[in-house]
Order: sequence, then C-alpha cells, then structure tokens
Amino acid sequence: MAGETVGKILFTEEQIRSRARELGQQITADYQDCQLVVVGTLNGAIMWMCDLVKNIDLDLRLDFISAHSYGSGTISSGNVNITKDLEMDVTGKDVLIVEDIVDSGNTLSFLKNTYFDNKGARSVRICTMLNKPARREAEGLTLDYVGFTVEDLFIVGYGLDFDQKYRSLPYISYLAE
Ligand code: IMP
Ligand code: MG
Repeated sequence: MAGETVGKILFTEEQIRSRARELGQQITADYQDCQLVVVGTLNGAIMWMCDLVKNIDLDLRLDFISAHSYGSGTISSGNVNITKDLEMDVTGKDVLIVEDIVDSGNTLSFLKNTYFDNKGARSVRICTMLNKPARREAEGLTLDYVGFTVEDLFIVGYGLDFDQKYRSLPYISYLAE
C-alpha cells in the first residue's frame, strides 16, 4: 500500500492524556496493597504507558515485553512469538499489561491466560488505549481498563504504526486511501 494518507484526528493528545489521568486514578484506587508491575507491550504502547503511569500514585515497577501473534484467525491463540521477554520475575506480583490496541485479541489472550499465568503472577489485568471490537476472535477476553473504543479502521499515531511509520504522531488518526 503506497501513497497512503492519514485521515482526520480521532483523539487529540489532550483527550488521550485526560483519559489516561482518569484511568490512572482508577488503577490507583484498585491496586492499593498490591505489588503492581506495569508491563508495556513494545513498541505501540510506549506513549500511552508514559501518560498512564504518571497518573498511578503507587509504588509500582515497570517492565516491557514484545509479543506478536502470527497466522490467521483460525489458528489458536497459542501462536504468539515473544521477541523481547520480561526482565523481572513476576511470581506473586499483580501484573497490569498496557497495550496500544486490542484487535483480534489473540496476543493479549495468550499473554494473559498462558504466559503470565505460567509465570505465576498473582493477578493479570489489561489496560488498553484502544479497543477495536469489530474483529475480535479471542473469546472471553476481559479488558479491565479501556481508553477509547474505535471503529474497524486502521489506526495510526500515538505509538501505532503502519509499516513502522506514524508512531510519533501526537494524536490518534487512521489510514485513508
Ligand atoms: P491482536 O489483538 O492480537 O489482533 O493484535 C493486536 C496488535 O496488532 C496490536 O497490539 C497492534 O500492534 C496491532 N494492530 C491491531 N490493529 C491495529 C491498527 O489498527 N493499527 C495499528 N496496529 C494495529
Ligand atoms: Mg501491540
């Protein structure tokens, strides 16, 4: 796809930061007396993670993971490649996965139900900047904290890429032909 253009702004930086503040406050209340480890998914979640953690008023720890699902929708959620693993031992810890966008849900389903479960995490919750429910495949995947819900568009900006481009845009938009 050459010569693609970016469409209208869906969410401004101010809107995103304001939503991160709301969810950060909610997470602060929900994780009292927990051992919180916030795990960002590289590369897409970096900007949202920065905004979010500044608003979580707790003694938390940060780590990152890079995971990619492959294959078509008919393949089970176990088909996920970890290209950068955690540095921290999360045994007995309360893990909050911070994701950029949940589409099929296969990557997160694997991380939550297989990967972090095997690591012995005490709890695993998800905070995603965007939810795109139109193409969900993973069944029974609970998204505990959602920034915004979007239509079935190809979203770019604020960490999200098309062919590694557009990640640095300070707003959320979509690809228009
Ligand atoms: P899934 O939920 O397992 O299908 O995969 C979600 C991942 O695919 C996200 O973390 C993004 O990295 C990528 N992705 C899904 N939808 C979009 C989009 O609209 N724009 C950019 N990346 C996307
Ligand atoms: Mg991602």
